[in-house]
Amino acid sequence: MKETIQTPYFVIDEQILQHYYDMLTDSLSANWDNYLIGYSFKTNSLPWLVSYMKKQGALAEVVSEDEYSLARYMGFSDEQILYNGPYKGEASFRAVLLAGGIVNLDSMQEVRWLSDLSDCFPNNHFQVGIRANFNLEQMCPGETTMGEVSGRFGFCYETGKFADALAILCRLPNVSVTGLHLHSSSKSRSVNIFRSIARMACRIQEEFDLDLSYVDLGGGYCGGMEGRPEYPDYFPAIAQELHRCFSPERTKLIVEPGISMISKCTTFVTSVFDTRDIKGTRYVMTDGSRFNIDPTMIKSSHLFHLQYTQDTCMDASSSNISQAQDAVANPLKTAAIYVHTDRPLLAKQVVSGFSCMEADRIFLHENQPELMPGDRIVYENVGGYTMSLNPLFIQYFPAVYVKSGDRLQMVRKKWTPEEYVQGSLW
Ligand SMILES: Cc1ncc(COP(=O)(O)O)c(C=O)c1O
Repeated sequence: MKETIQTPYFVIDEQILQHYYDMLTDSLSANWDNYLIGYSFKTNSLPWLVSYMKKQGALAEVVSEDEYSLARYMGFSDEQILYNGPYKGEASFRAVLLAGGIVNLDSMQEVRWLSDLSDCFPNNHFQVGIRANFNLEQMCPGETTMGEVSGRFGFCYETGKFADALAILCRLPNVSVTGLHLHSSSKSRSVNIFRSIARMACRIQEEFDLDLSYVDLGGGYCGGMEGRPEYPDYFPAIAQELHRCFSPERTKLIVEPGISMISKCTTFVTSVFDTRDIKGTRYVMTDGSRFNIDPTMIKSSHLFHLQYTQDTCMDASSSNISQAQDAVANPLKTAAIYVHTDRPLLAKQVVSGFSCMEADRIFLHENQPELMPGDRIVYENVGGYTMSLNPLFIQYFPAVYVKSGDRLQMVRKKWTPEEYVQGSLW
């Protein structure tokens, strides 16, 4: 089957996806049996995935009017929206609040919108959440994305802006702050990070005497990474902290998984189409690009396996699998599983993308069997922040398949000029 499909393409393994979804719900049920899952659209808003999450009962966690519109287009009602982020649209903001969906306020502008809305609908009662910006780095030194520099979302707890916003909201007669949003991105994605975020929820609840119907911890979990935490590691620690100030009977736990849910189940299949030697370096040209799997160009390593085209190779399940190289020391070095082949070893092969950008070099393949046209390089753990961030640069979006058992179904066809020119005049 593999041979007949034109590369490059993404594959989502439905069984693995379901495994991770079930792992999340099982862990939540076991530790805090009153929860909501908001699937992070920005992480991957492929229509098939969005629809899959809807069928599982997840809310649509959206952060813009476009994402909101997509959620509505895909059948989510306003009540099934979890609206976050600094760039909401006023019309959708109002629609979600009027329908009883979840809105986490991020700015003073949104406080003003809410004030206007409450004036317009004096007989309605509005329940909102508020996003706290707080110094997580102090609680978890070296673990956060922003380090000593503050994050830029929500209302800052330490400077008193959070208290100011709360005071304004409390003066609105038909508004209650019933939710607290604490999403914070971290490099470590550790259990310690989530324990600290839960601790912060308690601190804020106690300090401001909030009566919260939900605590929203956001996303940022690990999933499917060897040696790293999984959902069952996070929620006992989170629940232990939350129990100090909250109970599952009164307060929902909201989680907004993105990458942890969809990375492990997704691969990107590429082929070598050419090789060339320039000044002692073998360049291996492939039909995938760094833009497909690392569009923000921040990855220092890639997880992949190789499928050599020639019959000198053994099966991946044979004992001839040599293991990962050190992926961290050299930004172009890569953790990989190699299928054995009798081909000669080459000192330095630079596996590159199809684009005309010099930076489109994906990884350095050192002292490894020679790669040849027709070989396939299958990148693993590529479900998050890849498809949704892909540019339409030189090549259009690749196809996406879903693997269910032995069946591969195309759920997005490769884009062609037809999709590219839609809505254009010339
Ligand atoms: C508010 C919010 N929720 C959820 C997520 C998803 O995070 P992740 O994909 O790391 O789980 C993000 C990502 O930045 C976010 O900003």
